[in-house]
Amino acid sequence: MTGRFITFEGIDGAGKSTHIEPTATALRTAGRTVVCTREPGGTELAERLRDMVLHAAMDGVSETLLVFAARRDHIGRVISPALARGEIVLCDRFTDATFAYQGYGRGQDLALLGRLEAEVQQGLQPDLTLWFDLDPQVAAERRAQARAADRFEAEDVAFFERVRHGYLARMSGAPERFVRIDASQGRDEVARRVAEALRERLDG
Ligand code: TMP
Repeated sequence: MTGRFITFEGIDGAGKSTHIEPTATALRTAGRTVVCTREPGGTELAERLRDMVLHAAMDGVSETLLVFAARRDHIGRVISPALARGEIVLCDRFTDATFAYQGYGRGQDLALLGRLEAEVQQGLQPDLTLWFDLDPQVAAERRAQARAADRFEAEDVAFFERVRHGYLARMSGAPERFVRIDASQGRDEVARRVAEALRERLDG
């Protein structure tokens, strides 16, 4: 059985993380071995880098280099070995987030991001990316009720409009990889769409 790499994406407040554990449970019930992980993070080093990226003041270039450093460690230690064992990897964010946040949100050079992506991933791409798409204004209202903001969550609606545009651009560049999920719907309907996307895209 071949491994499958599935990523969950969307702006902060879109609700993607809520759907990862239930998805893992459903896949395990169906007999698959599942690894749940996240970016930045997923290894000891990458979690330390995550803490810096989320909380330490730095410019966009440093931010970009740190998320790719975290990604390199994560791919080498967790993602690639799990895929080689035939497991399913569910990852809360991956490189689409770097294009959306650092590229479109912060205005970092997209060509540089592309070079880092090629170098760090060596051809690795998700088999399926679920993009939880939500209006940035609605997401801001959800976030305000939820938690203390980190460096990204503290950004204004205009920033998240740009990030959303980044996801849209990434989807246009790889439509076969993406499924857009309307995250404005209720949790049960969103869960139904996630299950449907997995059935349609992962069978075989
Ligand atoms: P999370 O809150 O969904 O765990 O994501 C952490 C934050 O990190 C989120 O605001 C998006 C940001 N991020 C980037 O800016 N670039 C990246 O490459 C990744 C993976 C996350």
